[in-house]
Amino acid sequence: MEESVALQENSNEQTRDNFDKAAPDTVQAPMIRSEIGAATDPSSQSNSSSSSSGDDALRIRDSAENTAPASGLVIEAGEGQHQQGPGIGGSGGGEDSPPNSANQVTVVGDKAVRSDIALSVLQQLYLPEQTDAYRKVNLHDKTLSFPHSPSFPSVKMLLNHERKRILVTGGAGFVGSHLVDRLMLMGHEVIVLDNFFTGSKRNVQHWLGHPHFELIRHDVVDPFMIEVDQIYHLACPASPPHYQYNPIKTVKTSVMGTINMLGLAKRTKARFLLTSTSEVYGDPEEHPQKETYWGHVNPIGPRACYDEGKRVAETLTYSYMQQDEVDVRVARIFNTFGPRMNENDGRVVSNFIMQALRGDELTIYGDGQQTRSFQYIHDLVDGLILLMNRNYKEPVNLGNPEEYTIREFAEMIRNEINADVEIMSLPPTEDDPQRRRPDIGRAQRYLGWNPKFSVYQGIRETVQYFKKTKSEQAWYTD
Ligand SMILES: NC(=O)c1ccc[n+]([C@@H]2O[C@H](COP(=O)([O-])OP(=O)(O)OC[C@H]3O[C@@H](n4cnc5c(N)ncnc54)[C@H](O)[C@@H]3O)[C@@H](O)[C@H]2O)c1
Repeated sequence: MEESVALQENSNEQTRDNFDKAAPDTVQAPMIRSEIGAATDPSSQSNSSSSSSGDDALRIRDSAENTAPASGLVIEAGEGQHQQGPGIGGSGGGEDSPPNSANQVTVVGDKAVRSDIALSVLQQLYLPEQTDAYRKVNLHDKTLSFPHSPSFPSVKMLLNHERKRILVTGGAGFVGSHLVDRLMLMGHEVIVLDNFFTGSKRNVQHWLGHPHFELIRHDVVDPFMIEVDQIYHLACPASPPHYQYNPIKTVKTSVMGTINMLGLAKRTKARFLLTSTSEVYGDPEEHPQKETYWGHVNPIGPRACYDEGKRVAETLTYSYMQQDEVDVRVARIFNTFGPRMNENDGRVVSNFIMQALRGDELTIYGDGQQTRSFQYIHDLVDGLILLMNRNYKEPVNLGNPEEYTIREFAEMIRNEINADVEIMSLPPTEDDPQRRRPDIGRAQRYLGWNPKFSVYQGIRETVQYFKKTKSEQAWYTD
């Protein structure tokens, strides 16, 4: 089936999008933990971790070999020093320059679709050193101030015909805000539509006022009209406590919201990408999960409003493709984590990190032998942008095939933050899937995509982020 889709699509090659490229010939085997254990085992990284603290991650090498033009950004490079920032797609991972340290990702994205950005540029947007440039916290006076004329990160300069108008629904949420960062840095015009149910203006505040950026409070359940070239449709609460808070609204968001956005894509001839989920596989009987697997979902269980909502959203997407020739993409996203996750959203990563930071026990539901695979946010954003800009219309899994038991994951976070906290088992939750691991063969083959970040590197950045937000919030509750 995949071959015939690819052939058919090649003959329909879209000329309006010069990003599309033929799928790579070679397929890399999915990563398995035994192969990359060294990259993910905290103990095996003791050397590199000691030389790559949060500050070091922002340090920029001033290498003569690095010929990328400077972006003009000034980056805090350790105590009291300033250095020129890297070019947006520039330093840190060039073929000629040695990597900062083994197994550390320093450049994200893909040159082929021009989404490549130095990690340090993104870090300026979500780690403390950057946000302070836009939002000053005075712990002494307990005041917040927003400098009147914020300076924006440099974005790529595109010709008019290259710059797209891109709508991101749910763009103020966790995934959406990182996608917005990347699309902005790539030089596009970005319009965010969000009702702020789980998202926050703060996630995109660093772009407010930028001439390429617009933020609109709107509920996707209601129709919306705008002229755009691409639509990334993310709007939907994604964590169980949030989507179970008002299950009827969750179904409406998935069904009516997706109909509205597909209608918009139809009218404006925009390309439409749906962020679906691994939850469409339910509690899978097939392992790892391939896109061809139809799933094992309880239609009336507590997760049904989300799982079935997304399944209908997929059905709608392909119905609009078949009936109205809407140009569609569907990403099935597996567990993703990173900075800007909501600390109270009940997802396993934020739960464990916040519990460990508070010195509380880490709570596991069931015996902790259920498995999950966790992908770092920048890998997901890479995959979404590639999928949007490649010519492949079937659903594509985006996830990191490294599989951990929940208990192993809890231990990893505990070791990173506070080795003294206990791990406690609670009764299992209803319909909790026992095993989750993506088969990413399709993404490798048709997008040329592979996750780059080890779970360990992702956890270290995420812990850094939560530590910062926690210390900032401490005085609110004093
Ligand atoms: N994070 C993951 O691990 C994961 C996994 C699978 C799928 N996904 C999908 O990715 C997308 C983004 O997830 P996330 O983790 O960023 O969640 P999130 O809750 O952080 O973001 C969702 C965003 O959508 C907005 N929103 C919700 N309902 C809306 C409505 N009716 N109208 C307008 N805006 C609305 C929220 O305010 C929020 O900004 C979702 O579609 C989710 O299903 C995420």
